[in-house]
Amino acid sequence: MTATFCEYKPGLEGIPVTKSSISFVDGQKGILEYRGIAIEELAKRSSFLETAYLLIWGELPSQQQLQEFQIDILFHRRIKYRIRDMMKCFPESGHPMDALQTSAAALGLFYARRALDDPEYIRKAVVRILAKIPTMVAAFHQMRRGNDAVQPNDELDYAANFLYMLTERVPHPLEAKIFDICLTLHAEHTINASTFSAMVTASTLTDPYAVVASAVGTLAGPLHGGANEEVLLMLESIGSVGNVEPYISNLIINKQKIMGFGHRVYKVKDPRAKILQELAVDLFSETGHDRYYDLALELERVIELKLGQKGIYPNIDFYSGLVYRKLGIPSDLFTPIFAIARVAGWLAHWKEQLAVNRIFRPTQVYTGQHDIAYISMSER
Ligand code: CMC
Repeated sequence: MTATFCEYKPGLEGIPVTKSSISFVDGQKGILEYRGIAIEELAKRSSFLETAYLLIWGELPSQQQLQEFQIDILFHRRIKYRIRDMMKCFPESGHPMDALQTSAAALGLFYARRALDDPEYIRKAVVRILAKIPTMVAAFHQMRRGNDAVQPNDELDYAANFLYMLTERVPHPLEAKIFDICLTLHAEHTINASTFSAMVTASTLTDPYAVVASAVGTLAGPLHGGANEEVLLMLESIGSVGNVEPYISNLIINKQKIMGFGHRVYKVKDPRAKILQELAVDLFSETGHDRYYDLALELERVIELKLGQKGIYPNIDFYSGLVYRKLGIPSDLFTPIFAIARVAGWLAHWKEQLAVNRIFRPTQVYTGQHDIAYISMSER
């Protein structure tokens, strides 16, 4: 094929990099669908694992398929003691996303066989990754506090078990339910940066653990998944409702980004932010008000007034932190939790990519010079 000229688009804005049937976003209308099903419907009626199955295998599971999938995941939740030993050597001040990226990559050492054309290998890798990522996040959190990792609890489902491993306390069913919905909301979102990273890595036909590790590294940045942690830091430094206006004006004057706001695709309020806000309200009415919610409402009002005409509204990362904070989760675990959920989307794209694979090898617009004479060391 001969190369055709096409305009350079920073950030690949608007450039399709694949054909995909996994999810759909309409950024003007605020619509998100997984495999054609509205996110609102899935958040209300489906569990995270059911949603992960839908994303990866293309259809909602039957009762028996879901049961088998859940049992498979339950069976693979534990991590090898050598992985735990490795994690014990991580510095306790290290960020949990770095710990997760390292641990996810380490899975490749323990499950080294690669057979990308074997459906059973694909199935096992999917199960293993979905099962072990939450265990690794919780294990690092325990270990950095000087504790042993809490073993998974076979009596608890996916979401409840993660909260249990984190706190050693069986969560209230409402907490587990809300956390499960949060996972569903974060599970997939078309070709975002981390998913693209997963696809690029997958396109070299490397193993799925390297695919997930590269996506975790990409998700960690503050312009992507790392924004949820930054939102809480921002609310902390704003401090009071009265300080919202001057704080935001100052950021805008200094051309700084307001974390948890704006999106490459959505030009209206992110549908997931709407659901998360409702969940936060449900949680507050059950467990007590959080004054940060008043700050968040005022922040949303002020930003709509100042930046609404540019299409800047709350994104998924704005309200998720408030929910997690109420669940007692430390803010540096917000992004690893995003990763626990987004693994479903990464694996769905990995599987889709393998079926039609061609290695990613884009081009560049060269801005350097030609025919420059070499200057020997003594003359430089
Ligand atoms: N605060 C203030 N101004 C903003 C913001 C914001 N959060 N987001 C965009 N803008 C302005 C930006 O200054 C620019 O204005 P102008 O045209 O006058 O120069 C315009 O909107 C377009 O911004 P951009 O940076 O070109 O937009 P982008 O599509 O490249 O970036 C974004 C999208 C999400 C990286 C950006 O909105 C942002 O940095 N938001 C804050 C970080 C954040 O919340 N990230 C989470 C994104 S959603 C979940 C996820 O992906 O993980």
